[in-house]
Amino acid sequence: MPLPETLDRLSPSPRKRQALEQNHAYLMPNRVELWTGAGVPLVIGKREGYRFWDLDGHELQDLHLNGGTYNLGHRHPEMVAALAEALETLDVGNHHFPSEARGRLAARLAELAPGDLHYSVFTPSGSEANDVAIKSARHATERRKIVSLEAGYHGASGLSGAAGDDANAAYFLSDYPDEFLKVPFGDLDAVEKALAPGEVAAVLIEPIPATFGFPIPSDDYLPGLRALCDRHGTLLVADEVQTGLGRTGRLWACEAFGIEPDLLITGKGLGAGLYPIGAVVMSRRVGEWLHERGWGYVSTFGGSELGCALALRALELCAAEKTARNVAELSEHLAAGLADLRGRHPFLCDVRQKGLVVGLGFDGPNAAMRMSAALYPTGLWAMFAGFDRRYLQWKTGLLADRAYVDEALGKLETALTKVAG
Ligand SMILES: Cc1ncc(COP(=O)(O)O)c(C=O)c1O
Repeated sequence: MPLPETLDRLSPSPRKRQALEQNHAYLMPNRVELWTGAGVPLVIGKREGYRFWDLDGHELQDLHLNGGTYNLGHRHPEMVAALAEALETLDVGNHHFPSEARGRLAARLAELAPGDLHYSVFTPSGSEANDVAIKSARHATERRKIVSLEAGYHGASGLSGAAGDDANAAYFLSDYPDEFLKVPFGDLDAVEKALAPGEVAAVLIEPIPATFGFPIPSDDYLPGLRALCDRHGTLLVADEVQTGLGRTGRLWACEAFGIEPDLLITGKGLGAGLYPIGAVVMSRRVGEWLHERGWGYVSTFGGSELGCALALRALELCAAEKTARNVAELSEHLAAGLADLRGRHPFLCDVRQKGLVVGLGFDGPNAAMRMSAALYPTGLWAMFAGFDRRYLQWKTGLLADRAYVDEALGKLETALTKVAG
């Protein structure tokens, strides 16, 4: 349906109509048409904790968290205060020079990262952190090829885009099929075959691929990847943009699966949803180029001092013992609630869970898209997985409580009854 007719049917307030029309005219015509057509005419207004409100007042629990950007909630008061405090004395800084805020964050990341990961490079986004990881791995190994998962997502910039969904990279003539090899998730034989010629710089994976609906790897998959990389002189890169910062019950998913990568990427929630910052943390060996080529990666806004000061506080809260305790308790409570719902609603046919990393499988090819749309009017936003639309990503905030989880499960049951019925 053309946008004007959809808007007439939805009868938004003048303020919301203007936002939708301007976004449609100048910014994202395709997205505006798809969302409004799918019954999700969302323009986010007020936001607080694990909720936000559409401009016209519709209140929603946020079970999407924009991939973990809001792990700690929207506008967490301590995080807002940390940013305000930083603004009193700092600005983005000058990226050519050392800085206190950058140094502190890098030192803390080295302490908290698994194994002997040591050097950090800060970027304005997760995509660019993936780019830097790929370049660093290529330089360290003097090899060009990268192996990644067919159903992985690592961002939309040049190299990160080529490492992800082939169709999207090819659309922009930015796929490099000779250099970026894709393997199915869970298939160690395919990785072995790709690594055997000795030309692969790195295997780049999300420990639990988000856009594929969070399939939980078998216990031997990630250790198996680690062993194959070691055997073939290939580096292992863990993109923890979604799985990191406490979501699995450990600070990093790699720790939850008992592996140590050579490079680890973080982003999204690192800036507490208030400031864009990403990071790649790498071993001394991989980061050797930092000794040789001081300006090998330059970014005016990467490692902004405001972002670093805030990220240090966000990292502390994500890594705090009380946060891990809450994640463990909530995970258990959620697992029990989901098992109960699954027992009574066969349309919910699969539950994938590692801590608060949760993918819900529904019976039918686009069933999770229908569930997203059915949950919206109940007052909950959760996003289907782009590469497998049978699965819904169900991201509970690290600091949420049982009452919040129960409220969300109640809405899930309402939507299940509606869609399956
Ligand atoms: C696993 C993963 N890696 C990388 C990215 C890219 O991060 P950004 O959008 O900050 O560039 C995303 C974003 O959704 C992601 O989910």
